[in-house]
Amino acid sequence: MVAGADPRVHSGVSDFVVVANRLPIDMERHPDGSTTWKRSPGGLVTAMEPLLRRRRGAWIGWPGIPDDAADISVDVEPIVEDDLRLYPVGLTSADVAEYYEGFSNATLWPLYHDVIVKPIYHREWWDAYVRVNRRFAEVTARAAAQGATVWIQDYQLQLVPKMLRILRPDLTIGFFLHIPFPPVELFMQMPWRTEITEGLLGADLVGFHLPGGAQNFLVLARRLIGANASRASVGVRNRLGEVHVGFRTVKVGAFPISIDSSELDQKARNRDIRRRAREIRAELGNPRRILLGVDRLDYTKGIDVRLKAFAELLEEGRIKGDDTVLVQLATPSRERVDSYRALRDDIERQVGHINGEFGEVGRPVVQYLHRPVPRDELIAFFVAADVMLVTPLRDGMNLVAKE
Ligand code: ADP
Ligand code: F6P
Repeated sequence: MVAGADPRVHSGVSDFVVVANRLPIDMERHPDGSTTWKRSPGGLVTAMEPLLRRRRGAWIGWPGIPDDAADISVDVEPIVEDDLRLYPVGLTSADVAEYYEGFSNATLWPLYHDVIVKPIYHREWWDAYVRVNRRFAEVTARAAAQGATVWIQDYQLQLVPKMLRILRPDLTIGFFLHIPFPPVELFMQMPWRTEITEGLLGADLVGFHLPGGAQNFLVLARRLIGANASRASVGVRNRLGEVHVGFRTVKVGAFPISIDSSELDQKARNRDIRRRAREIRAELGNPRRILLGVDRLDYTKGIDVRLKAFAELLEEGRIKGDDTVLVQLATPSRERVDSYRALRDDIERQVGHINGEFGEVGRPVVQYLHRPVPRDELIAFFVAADVMLVTPLRDGMNLVAKE
């Protein structure tokens, strides 16, 4: 079947397609050349995966490792897993360095998180962002069935809505941003602000976690697209704003995501998980209080200030190292980006300092694991803990708080 504006684009079979930078599973390549898959890091997968499994559909994303030999053409064969079709989009090491580590995580990420660290702007990174967004749009155009609904995720793919609409005007396109959307005063420092705004306005519906993000985007669309956006306001009744772009109306709103709380609740009552929780307490020396932090190792999460506060409580004698333990589980993240390297060094220095000052032989006061923990083990940690420390400086929707 031929679909859309471009006669060379053939539609696929999937009626519901999620497009995200990463697949829900990451490929791991081992020294002997073999490969295995593991759950991808981050809240996006936590929020989206249960939903997609219930709906059946396709997921288009990067398998998580650079691959210079990857077939970066758009004819991608899906991996079929249960009822889910996974379309891996290959990224070369240059794509990873410039599109993922560069523009996505050293330009957009800090800009959208209120410039906690300084965003870096490079023309080559922007070019890579355009190139990779186009590749995602082309793969999606081939995977989506005629008239399908496509749901594009997050800041890495903000140009895809417009690119996809040009290729496949028959599709219904949604976009959801999983991180904050900054106020217009900050966004205006982005040299490619108009291109990004127009990219997002290719969708039929643009979603944010919070009304503040949606408002920021509406103000921006009015300011940048000006004449083309005849009205941009948040309606009182349905809390949806509208932007008129030519003959189309783009709806804009706030849709806070959440977790599968009943599944988590059920697991937290599971006998094996409760036994493991007791074991964890025993392994930690059965302290009176266990404090727990669970985060990707990211400067937005406030892990460094959390440790500083813990050290101050110990210094002031308000808690004692012999009856309190802080467990910090930290998933490695974006390890080649300078600001993440600096954060890791700082945190590991702080952990060493606190243990040196307040720990005993065989009894550190901070237990720090720099690795992802399997899901059931993580839930056992949640059950074992007395106090959760969730202290982001800025966050889209912190799912650890909900967990
Ligand atoms: P982000 O999307 O910025 O990473 P969220 O708090 O929204 O942050 O989501 C993080 C998700 O990753 C949660 O589901 C959390 O339980 C999970 N997670 C974070 N750290 C770890 C870890 N060390 N091991 C296993 N899962 C983790
Ligand atoms: O929620 C923000 C987000 O960047 C998601 O897009 C992503 O899945 C998660 O955090 C983890 O980040 P990364 O894919 O860069 O490891």
